[in-house]
Amino acid sequence: MRILFTGGSGKAGQYSIRYLLEQGHTILNLDQVIFDHPNVMTRLADITDAGQVYDVMSSYAHYGELTPGTGVPKFDAVVHFAAVPRLLQTSDNECYRVNTLGTYNVIDAAVKMGVRKVIFASSETTYGVCFADGEVKPEYLPIDEDHPTVPDDSYAMSKVVNEATAKSFQKRTGFDIYGLRINNVIEPHEYKENFPAYLQDPDLRRRNIFSYIDARDLGQMVQKCLETDGLGYQIFNVSNDDHSVGLSSAEIMNRYYSDVPLRSDHMPESFYSNEKAKRLLGFMPEHSWRDYI
Ligand SMILES: NC(=O)c1ccc[n+]([C@@H]2O[C@H](COP(=O)([O-])OP(=O)(O)OC[C@H]3O[C@@H](n4cnc5c(N)ncnc54)[C@H](O)[C@@H]3O)[C@@H](O)[C@H]2O)c1
Repeated sequence: MRILFTGGSGKAGQYSIRYLLEQGHTILNLDQVIFDHPNVMTRLADITDAGQVYDVMSSYAHYGELTPGTGVPKFDAVVHFAAVPRLLQTSDNECYRVNTLGTYNVIDAAVKMGVRKVIFASSETTYGVCFADGEVKPEYLPIDEDHPTVPDDSYAMSKVVNEATAKSFQKRTGFDIYGLRINNVIEPHEYKENFPAYLQDPDLRRRNIFSYIDARDLGQMVQKCLETDGLGYQIFNVSNDDHSVGLSSAEIMNRYYSDVPLRSDHMPESFYSNEKAKRLLGFMPEHSWRDYI
């Protein structure tokens, strides 16, 4: 497929782009900084500027596309990761502005140009636990896509708004628009760097519901979304199968969630459910911190 990828120069985007290149796709990256990769061009553009988004979305992906003399090919899919990716990076209102306006511009341009598949990055933070003031517990476990999303920080609010935006665009067009509630993205080198501390002190992972997503497995998830057509508007949790700490599920339940209802007839392997992604897309995470430590 010919794919426009926004935010591909960032932490999550770089791994997803590498994974997608391995599957044979052509990628054009839209970002404000260059992704230094021999097979990917970056167009420097700002997603909050609709004109720039429209221009890049009607652009050549690389010089080779000039050769046939048949004009600019159409994109088959848009993967939208560009964002202010957390609170406390910009002012709260700037985070909200960039993420909501940018996502509107990207999806608006995509559907008006007839791109029938849009995948966008939402976040685990929508569930209101991650960036809460003080401790907020899930309403039930495991957290699935039906869990309420009423966060109180501007970053997570922007992601909830983006989901509503995406849902409306999908309703208007009937195209496939899939949102990914991504858990904490972990690069391979971070297992050795960070996980010993998580094993020592599991409290460090409470805000992530003790979960994580390997950056390469996130790439696989994007590929599964590209492969699977006809689902309309969908939201998927994206996480690995195991906890990011050394405790068993029963131990986590006893220590942190003794007052939280368990909506499962068995003790799940993870409290951030990826069951829907497995069932509808065939997502099958391959990596684990246990391979490294
Ligand atoms: N990293 C995580 O743990 C995590 C978890 C859940 C969701 N997410 C989401 O995944 C996506 C990628 O996150 P990341 O960790 O790679 O973040 P990142 O900051 O490493 O990458 C984001 C990229 O977006 C680009 N960008 C920012 N504003 C832009 C603008 N106005 N126009 C064009 N490009 C712009 C940045 O230059 C950067 O390369 C984000 O949408 C983030 O909210 C990340």
